[in-house]
Amino acid sequence: MTDLDALDLDFVQLGDTGLQTSELQFGTWRFGRETEEGNVEIDEDRAHELLDAYEAAGGRFIDTADVYGGGVAEEWIGDWLAERDRERFTVASKIYWQIRDGDPNSRGTNRKNLRHRTDALLDRLDTDYVDVLYIHRWDDQTSAREMMKTLNGLVEAGKVNYLGASTHRPNAWKVAKANAIARAEGWEPFSVLQPRYNLADREIEGDYLEMARSEGLAVCPWSPLGQGFLTGKYSREDGLTGESRAAESSRFQESYLTEENFDLHDELDAVADEVDATPAQTALAWLMHRDGVTAPIVGARTVEQLEENLSASEIDLSDKQVSRLTEAKGGPYAGL
Ligand SMILES: NC(=O)c1ccc[n+]([C@@H]2O[C@H](COP(=O)([O-])OP(=O)(O)OC[C@H]3O[C@@H](n4cnc5c(N)ncnc54)[C@H](OP(=O)(O)O)[C@@H]3O)[C@@H](O)[C@H]2O)c1
Repeated sequence: MTDLDALDLDFVQLGDTGLQTSELQFGTWRFGRETEEGNVEIDEDRAHELLDAYEAAGGRFIDTADVYGGGVAEEWIGDWLAERDRERFTVASKIYWQIRDGDPNSRGTNRKNLRHRTDALLDRLDTDYVDVLYIHRWDDQTSAREMMKTLNGLVEAGKVNYLGASTHRPNAWKVAKANAIARAEGWEPFSVLQPRYNLADREIEGDYLEMARSEGLAVCPWSPLGQGFLTGKYSREDGLTGESRAAESSRFQESYLTEENFDLHDELDAVADEVDATPAQTALAWLMHRDGVTAPIVGARTVEQLEENLSASEIDLSDKQVSRLTEAKGGPYAGL
């Protein structure tokens, strides 16, 4: 077992902001999340054990969202932070998804929803401010001007320090346009991006990462292990294993359990053997070596998984090994 105290995660600069944050962030998506069978994926005790382990490794960046566990993720983080010096931690949350049936205003980035939901999440987190407030998804029904002006107001009110844009599909021009409006008006622009990015999922390579570079934005990838695909727990022959939530999802199976991805996994296994690491650690190390990536957000269901993943910070890959992994998936941007 890893000695978490010995890991001592490094701090990295969050894009062009003055903020230093952990090189690996901790994601809380599965805190309080109910499975179809009605079980809670990560209960409060486990959530606090995971946060303890992350803190012991020197981790200081906690990523959450107001919909995780229907709000209980934020409550559990708030309870945990209440016993610590809140100032030592960087906390990010997100707003977008509809929270009341039949109420279209309870979704998106309109002024009413952003203001009300920011107050509600601060209350649950039991804190006066969040370090980063993300829009969880882009809301095409609210103008960029209304959204950026409202977000700027939250920064000016001291409820939010920095603004972020999270996304499922690359949306470079929308972020660039919103930031151009904000800068022209003297409002706070987005400083942080949260896209999906991992060895098997490379959609953001190209315009989106170029835009991030040109705007000086931090890039904090979610699903850095392809929801577990890159950990070696799936095999070409047997496909699914019992020990996984993702295994039940047809979307996961279609996106990740493909011949092309298993070929990529063969190369990942080979490099992992060379550096005496696990596939998960090697996949995370690859992401940390990628130009333009600030800090991946690690998710974990158990403390053992978290320990394994945080140890990726110790793995050194040669340029050649990084290129082999980059090129193993192929595609138009493999060489970037
Ligand atoms: N902005 C967004 O829209 C968005 C979307 C998704 C996530 N996120 C954020 O990003 C964080 C991470 O995303 P993610 O959970 O999808 O990340 P991920 O690292 O790709 O997947 C995490 C899952 O993989 C499995 N796993 C992780 N480490 C493992 C290990 N060492 N060995 C075996 N299995 C392992 C676990 O699930 P099983 O054990 O069940 O297989 C774990 O829950 C989330 O918590 C959230 O904060 C944001």
